[in-house]
Amino acid sequence: MARYLITSAIPYINGIKHLGNLVGSQLPADLYARYQRARGHEVMFVCATDEHGTPAELAAAKAGKPVAEYCAEMHQVQADIARGFGLSFDHFGRSSSAQNRALTQHFARRLGENGLIEVVSETQVYSVADDRFLPDRYIEGTCPNCGYERARGDQCENCTKQLEPTDLIDARSAISGSTDLEMRETRHLYLRQSLLKDKLDAWIDSKTDWPVLTTSIAKKWLHDGDGLQDRGITRDLDWGVPAQFEGAPWEGMEGKVFYVWFDAPIEYIAATHEWADSHGLSDKDWKRWWRTDEGAEDVRYVQFMGKDNVPFHTLSFPATIMGSREPWKLVDYIKSFNYLNYDGGQFSTSQGRGVFMDQALSILPADYWRWWLLSHAPENSDSEFTWENFQASVNKDLADVLGNFVSRVTKFCRAKFGEAVPEGGAWGEQEQALIRALGQRIRTYEAHMDAMEIRKASGELRAIWVAGNEYLQSAAPWVAFKEDPDRAAAIIRLSLNLIRLYAILSAPFIPGAAASMLAAMHATDDGWPGDVEQALSALPAGHGFEVPEVLFAKITDAQREEWQEKFAGVRD
Ligand code: MF3
Ligand code: ZN
Repeated sequence: MARYLITSAIPYINGIKHLGNLVGSQLPADLYARYQRARGHEVMFVCATDEHGTPAELAAAKAGKPVAEYCAEMHQVQADIARGFGLSFDHFGRSSSAQNRALTQHFARRLGENGLIEVVSETQVYSVADDRFLPDRYIEGTCPNCGYERARGDQCENCTKQLEPTDLIDARSAISGSTDLEMRETRHLYLRQSLLKDKLDAWIDSKTDWPVLTTSIAKKWLHDGDGLQDRGITRDLDWGVPAQFEGAPWEGMEGKVFYVWFDAPIEYIAATHEWADSHGLSDKDWKRWWRTDEGAEDVRYVQFMGKDNVPFHTLSFPATIMGSREPWKLVDYIKSFNYLNYDGGQFSTSQGRGVFMDQALSILPADYWRWWLLSHAPENSDSEFTWENFQASVNKDLADVLGNFVSRVTKFCRAKFGEAVPEGGAWGEQEQALIRALGQRIRTYEAHMDAMEIRKASGELRAIWVAGNEYLQSAAPWVAFKEDPDRAAAIIRLSLNLIRLYAILSAPFIPGAAASMLAAMHATDDGWPGDVEQALSALPAGHGFEVPEVLFAKITDAQREEWQEKFAGVRD
């Protein structure tokens, strides 16, 4: 039994995520976590809400609520939606937790003691109209790299370039829109990550098995232009982890907090600490996942994220870990994703364009979405959601292939043999051929899942479903029944067992339907299949079952058109 530490990029607290966010981090992470658990491994799967910084402050102000209250409410909203999507986090934490505050200050102190943090006097954008210094995100303007007009002071959402506020053309305050901005003197902490450049470079070079998307972005930031410049890690805000604290190796940081991207990844560790605390466990219990001197040596740590998050996980967070010179676990594998587009354009949170997680669940159960999103994951290039494609995949893969198989087999059996697995004769050449084919396909499916090749894995799973349908079609128990009921019974015995096997194999993708299938088969053993013939004998003759409710309803043209219309505009 191996141990897997799995983290998904932690979603910003402000607002509900759209399906593009979901497929780029939380959903594939959940797929992998469910799969590794099913294989019998020990898994720690954590996520959290990313609550600090200006996005939270701006959203709370817009909602007319104190920021702490806003965050507590939105955390609950996001936690409920995550549960609705079947995201099986061991813990869904909060970056505003006491654990994260302590860990963030701990790392900052260590970095300071190791000469990796310096106090820098600088001039910063001050908004006369707003009577305050403006953090990066409170400044908007035109991106000098790509010309996008709503770039923010920290990063251009369009081309992903990391920016300094002073890089922006025609800068204005995001609070008031005022262009009456001036530069004033203030002091900030800077992380001297340039000192770690060679170490990070060698570390990235050693990751020869990582997706090219991950390493190419890391390399670009290491070598092109200003990717690994020392960066300011404090901001003039109230909401966040205070940068002045007891034992801090600097002074004069009152009124400042750490930059949200400094404390957010530390929340991966803190969330595991929160998990231990909430279960009445000890420090040892979370440290065995994170400290190589306390048992984490044999943990495989895998992170999931969209491509805009890659620089922070390949460079900034590892710089924090390495710079601490303490034995914290570094990531072993980073699975990153391109973007999912929406019906001819981009999903956009700021513009409310696309389908958001709560809206998706209000029209269809999670499995419909999980299947489409995962089987179209933007792994090697951007991919696009269209309603036509969604309708076609759901109707074909889920309703016609899987759902139909389950319904035909269970209904036929109930009609001809009753609601128990029939005995029938021995299996023949046709069955042996199916068993051999499934044996190969399942091993291929496992290989793709192990490699996190999500589209390939979904294709193999679909092929496994198709193989059962083709078998049923050619074995034709409804024909055999007339001449040789025993033969028909043998076919049905195998097919009912196939439903159990499908449930187990499909559960990482469609956990809700898989649970219904297992329940309908009264199956108690949901162990991952080794030998296929053995797995297809798990439900013996005489074992009772039920015909399940329709697993997947087809999406009608009328529904598709209605939803297309409904989600065409922007959300208010
Ligand atoms: N909140 C960020 C986003 O939604 C992701 C933060 S990931 C972490 O893009 F590493 F910082 F935690
Ligand atoms: Zn840009």
